[in-house]
Amino acid sequence: MPLYDAFISSSHAKDKPIAGALQSVVQKFGKSWYKRRALRVFRDDTSLSAMPELWPSIETALSKSRFLILFASPEAAASPWVTKEVEYWLENRDPSTLLIGLTAGDLSWNSKTGDFKWSPRTPLPKALKGRFASEPKWVDLRPYRDGADPRDTHFIQLGADFAAAIHGMPKEDLLSQEVKQQRRALTLAMGAAASLLVLLGAAVLLYLTADYSDNCRWKGCVAALEANEAALTPSAVLAGPDKPGERLVLTGVVYASDGVTPASDVIVYAYHTNAEGRYADGAPDTVWSRRHGALRGWTRTGPDGVYRFDTIKPGVYPNPSSPAHIHINLVEPGHAPVYIDSVVFDGEFGVDNAFRERAENRGGSGIVRLKREDGVWIARRDIYLGLIMDG
Ligand SMILES: [Fe+2]
Repeated sequence: MPLYDAFISSSHAKDKPIAGALQSVVQKFGKSWYKRRALRVFRDDTSLSAMPELWPSIETALSKSRFLILFASPEAAASPWVTKEVEYWLENRDPSTLLIGLTAGDLSWNSKTGDFKWSPRTPLPKALKGRFASEPKWVDLRPYRDGADPRDTHFIQLGADFAAAIHGMPKEDLLSQEVKQQRRALTLAMGAAASLLVLLGAAVLLYLTADYSDNCRWKGCVAALEANEAALTPSAVLAGPDKPGERLVLTGVVYASDGVTPASDVIVYAYHTNAEGRYADGAPDTVWSRRHGALRGWTRTGPDGVYRFDTIKPGVYPNPSSPAHIHINLVEPGHAPVYIDSVVFDGEFGVDNAFRERAENRGGSGIVRLKREDGVWIARRDIYLGLIMDG
């Protein structure tokens, strides 16, 4: 089953801002009022030229995507990484699933040759020459290259062009469905007496307050792939006895999507703050080894699905904004990495009713009740793979 509805391939140097804006807009089309998004769009946030070792994770994301959105520009045409992604797509997918957003340069279609007009300035990877049976869907995004507001009406219309192709429905139907969704949301919020004017206001408000962030990118899911895979076992030490703090063992069973069968060969990546609430002393090797600090590590479940981390109890951030927590990302065999609800400690700072209501419960609840055994805190957090994909 595809994990992503679309994969955005672009030159990071110039197209990062517009790629983020388009991702926000496209993901929201056709969503129910209570969902964060209807479509899942993968946008690689890292520079492959700086980190070529990430190609396997990119390839995995490509293999799990239904559509490729290519941002066409002279920079993309010259990028070996964009070319690599396009070549992968042409080898494994039908060209009709490739959509183009033009961000710079000029594109024109030659109906006589049945191909784009090619010149040294054509803003497409040469791998695409002669590959289309008919003119592919392409959208002019050039006015927005230097900055697009996901709330801009015209930009939303352009996003709808992509979303309609991905949903496989006419754009007009998608837009009218969008209005109906917004109305439904308002009806629930305001009751049956809401006027059309208020409907429009609320529709705008929904856009203004929507959460455009992509948690997976923010949390560094890809860091789960930084493990030395050959060396992985079901247990790992994040903090040795020399690290200050209260000793804690985090353990549990990873269950397959049926909720009862232990899942083997799942990489469990955990990282957390030190006892002072800081992600400190990370290694300089990668972005995530710096950001996630020294207290991080990987395990791989065996046939019993069990994982275990020996560590210390993390502290609350110095500027307390959320409970003390342990982040967990997972990699199932053949899947892209994902995050699940962080482990937090029931009854402690910030774990209140509001927190419970907000929890996504990805992979099951992350709220654990600590037990004390022989001077060590035991945190048991079972993980349910069947509870990850929604939302
Ligand atoms: Fe955190």
